[in-house]
Amino acid sequence: MEQLIQALASAAQTAAGVTGEQLGVSLPSLFEQPEDSAVGDLALPCFRLAKALRKSPAVIAADLAETIVLPDGVARAEAVNGYLNFFVDPAYYAGRVGAILQNPDFGTRHQGAGKTMVIDYSSPNIAKRFHVGHLGTTVIGNAIKNLHAFCGYRCVGINYLGDWGTQFGKLIVAYKKWSSADRVAERGIEELVDIYVRFSDESEKEPSLNDEARAAFAELERGNEEYLAIWRYFKEISLREYMKTYELLGIEFDSFDGESFFTDKMPAIVEELREKGLLVQDDGAWIVDLAPYGMPPALILKRDGSTLYPTRDIAAAVWRKKEYDFDKCIYVTSAGQSLHFAQWFKVVELMGYDWADRLVHVPYGTMSVGGEKLASRTGNVILLDDLFAEAISKAEAIMEEKNASLPNRHETAVAVGTGAVIFNALSGSRIKDTNFTWENALSFDGNTGPYVQYTYARASSVLRRAACPDADAAAGYVPAPDETALIKTLLRFPARVDAALCEYEPSIISRYVLDVCAAYNVFYHNCPILRSSGAEQAFRLRLTAAARQIIGKSLDLLTIRRTEEI
Ligand code: ARG
Repeated sequence: MEQLIQALASAAQTAAGVTGEQLGVSLPSLFEQPEDSAVGDLALPCFRLAKALRKSPAVIAADLAETIVLPDGVARAEAVNGYLNFFVDPAYYAGRVGAILQNPDFGTRHQGAGKTMVIDYSSPNIAKRFHVGHLGTTVIGNAIKNLHAFCGYRCVGINYLGDWGTQFGKLIVAYKKWSSADRVAERGIEELVDIYVRFSDESEKEPSLNDEARAAFAELERGNEEYLAIWRYFKEISLREYMKTYELLGIEFDSFDGESFFTDKMPAIVEELREKGLLVQDDGAWIVDLAPYGMPPALILKRDGSTLYPTRDIAAAVWRKKEYDFDKCIYVTSAGQSLHFAQWFKVVELMGYDWADRLVHVPYGTMSVGGEKLASRTGNVILLDDLFAEAISKAEAIMEEKNASLPNRHETAVAVGTGAVIFNALSGSRIKDTNFTWENALSFDGNTGPYVQYTYARASSVLRRAACPDADAAAGYVPAPDETALIKTLLRFPARVDAALCEYEPSIISRYVLDVCAAYNVFYHNCPILRSSGAEQAFRLRLTAAARQIIGKSLDLLTIRRTEEI
């Protein structure tokens, strides 16, 4: 489509006698693709030309319709209400099927060639359960990473584990009083959560426990071997549990350098802030004043000299810039942390780092369960383990009923169950708040992951029965409207990928792939494939292969597994 737009833009330029430069806009960017193809396949709105040509848009469109020399592939042009609408030759679309099939990477414009992106996502706080609240950052983050990798970026995925802070003083005290290595080995994170809750309860009655915890954390920071060993154990137990979920989803990280990794890198940052005159004392604590930028101050050092979340993020960003030399560094967290990121991004800018504008915060809406805030203490929380286990067993039950002879049934159930949950999490714009319901997360009907996987399997099944022939076999075939509609949808893929990449918005892909599936299913029902013959059959098989390629690529981008058979 892009080549056609280029050709039309230059034809329009010649006919109108005005260049994009004179108009202050690139001519190809003016072209639109009308939703309703009865209006036309492409449209040039003539409003921007009116001033330069001193004619009304309607007159310009009518004149252009008369004078424009249409490039190959465009059958006719029609002027309607200031728009010049173009009708593309169905034969042109037929030719584009080959272009898709020839290019397994159709969709990428290699936007990131030679560039590096770092993405900080998932990043749970250790010793805490992995719950639906983490689903967003995990699947949105991975989809954004996939999109960048597809577009040629070198990607570094970082799981910035929350593995440092005063809570570990509390946990160490609680562990020594009420738990043991064996109990933790047996009960995993649950044990750590329980003793943490017990600590909170008991410290209300016995405030001196808090002093013990503070002292324990100070010891930990000083490098007390016994405490370090306990802390490492907490980390190992937590990671073991998180890894199961990551493996289930097929998500891999390049680094697990969490908050603790940056403890020894912070004094230098604090020093640098001081030298650059950015630190001011406020009630004993050290802060960077951000009032001129309409934000509350960034807290750098507490009164007792201990560092804070923003301090660690600044140190981590400076370190990552040196280590990876990124073109951009992306952080995916809930919108609740937006102010935190805006604040410390500003501090990095004030430090004089010109790459401050390469730091990108990608927020997503908060999730509630049953209309209430997620809170592990009140039990209003759904663990990711449970969620995926439930989804997989539901998928397995459905398959048992509908297709008991399916080979690899369990594997397919895993693909479909996880696919349902992931697709649901990626289906709306990320910034929208969501309310978790089991019905939605486990829905397999309508616009869901399983529907997309099912359509992919349908196309795969056609191609198992008849192989995809080469272009010659389909030569001369002129596609019918349901076929051109599908091709047009497929050709939108590069633009959709680009939009998803630029807007950090995986839902652009999830919505798009639903359009592809809908168009494929209309085609499948209205245009017999295996019961046709000759060039017609060859063309339909090729179109099936092209649709399968793009549905498959979209699933890959969303971290949803392809299912060859359901
Ligand atoms: N551990 C944090 C949390 O669970 C998320 C970390 C996000 N990344 C960062 N660099 N601050 O809320």
